[in-house]
Amino acid sequence: MKILIINGPNLNLLGVREPDIYGNQSFDSYLETLKKKYPDVEISYFQSNGEGALVDCIHEFGFSVDGIIINAAAYTHTSVAIADALSAITATVVEVHISNVFKREDFRHHSFISPVVQGVIGGFGLKSYELALNAIVKQ
Ligand code: DQA
Repeated sequence: MKILIINGPNLNLLGVREPDIYGNQSFDSYLETLKKKYPDVEISYFQSNGEGALVDCIHEFGFSVDGIIINAAAYTHTSVAIADALSAITATVVEVHISNVFKREDFRHHSFISPVVQGVIGGFGLKSYELALNAIVKQ
């Protein structure tokens, strides 16, 4: 089974960025643990701060992987282009958020992505990604 994790803007700063909200661990170190825990799942990873690069990645892999776990970060709340790209592909898509966006500012309560994905997981810290992985693998 092939799963692609896509992280959007500012998530390259995980571990450094607002640790009270996003925790102290870098995504690279979390990813290493996740890969070791699920040796039978082929997990690949892409991060970009650019909307176009995220759209290109969805086009490139969205027809060949089994599942995409996407944290589009701030683009969740703004990007019709990412929502359209996710609508175009065949992979199962799960939207994730590290924080519980509904506990935060009103502008984080709307997602352009939620209506076009299979499901949404948020609020469990980095564990949200593992929960999403399980949701795809066990379906
Ligand atoms: C986030 C929540 C978004 O509102 C925010 O812009 C992010 C991260 C999360 O994982 O909690 O950058 O997607």
